[in-house]
Amino acid sequence: MSKITTLDEFILTSEKKYSDATGQLSRILRDIGIAAKIVNREVNKAGLSNILGKDGGTTNNSGDEVQKLDIYANEKMIECLSYSGECCGIASEELENFISLPSKEAKTAEYIVVMDPLDGSSNIDVNVSVGTIFGIYRRLSAVDGEITKEDFVQKGTDLVASGYVLYGTSTILVYTTGRGVNGFTLDPSIGEFCLSHENMRIPPSGNYYSINQGYYLKFDLEMRRFIDHCSDKNLRLRYIGSMVSDIHRILFQGGIYLYPNTRKYPQGKLRLLYECNPMSMIVEQAGGKAITTKLERILELEVKEIHQRATIVIGSPDMIDEMKLFIEKYSAVLV
Ligand code: AHG
Ligand code: MN
Ligand code: MN
Repeated sequence: MSKITTLDEFILTSEKKYSDATGQLSRILRDIGIAAKIVNREVNKAGLSNILGKDGGTTNNSGDEVQKLDIYANEKMIECLSYSGECCGIASEELENFISLPSKEAKTAEYIVVMDPLDGSSNIDVNVSVGTIFGIYRRLSAVDGEITKEDFVQKGTDLVASGYVLYGTSTILVYTTGRGVNGFTLDPSIGEFCLSHENMRIPPSGNYYSINQGYYLKFDLEMRRFIDHCSDKNLRLRYIGSMVSDIHRILFQGGIYLYPNTRKYPQGKLRLLYECNPMSMIVEQAGGKAITTKLERILELEVKEIHQRATIVIGSPDMIDEMKLFIEKYSAVLV
């Protein structure tokens, strides 16, 4: 039997390779690993315990208050990020404002976390994959003071680490600290995330495109032309409706994922801080690209508000370059 490397062991070994590492980031990653296991357990039994997406606020058979799973995931992530005392504040898709963590240690901690605790939540009701996305930044405010909005509205290029957890047919945690991407599959028999995908690389091109094609008529001309082109080339359309799941496929098999502007969402739907930036860091670290429909690199976008939205085109590098040509040729905004 080959040696098993657990997530915790991998984090510690990686930390030892770098003399400047203080261990703080490692402890946050471990906290996230614990939260992922707890959320995974609840996702797996969601159908049994009546905590499906739409039934928030009801009581279960035992008379316990039942929460929506995305609220549950939000609370568990916050709770686990409080364990090590290395995270001072959190901004979450599920919270209107950022929060500071109350413990004495957290007051002087150096990192903040941004997260989408449950991505693709509409999938929960029908037993389809969901995920968790996270990004970690170094705080900018003084360690002995209050955290501020400026700590959170940092560009994607300032991310210290990012990752996601996919609760799929198996549960996998994928993360990067800017030195490549590694994936860890949860072995339920021992309750550990085990290294399963070392130094992940995205194929330069692939056979998949992923977009909500139901909005075809609401897209700009260049997007419709590109979709026609994908269809002409007989690319396979796959759209799960959880960006973690859709991008995960593309990371493994090659392809392109798009969420452009629509009439309903003129700035795009996905959140820059919680979704686009962390996923873009992962994909770029694996050799891919991530841009907006205005051809800006996602990771370099100015962040003004924590809940800011962005358009996104992300995936295999050759396919992003090909998509660029369509924007340059047909976009009314760029000419
Ligand atoms: P969330 O469940 O965190 O709100 O995210 C859902 C997001 C994203 O994951 C998914 O790809 C997209 O919304 C789906 O949107 P459409 O239903 O508009 O395609
Ligand atoms: Mn989401
Ligand atoms: Mn969400």
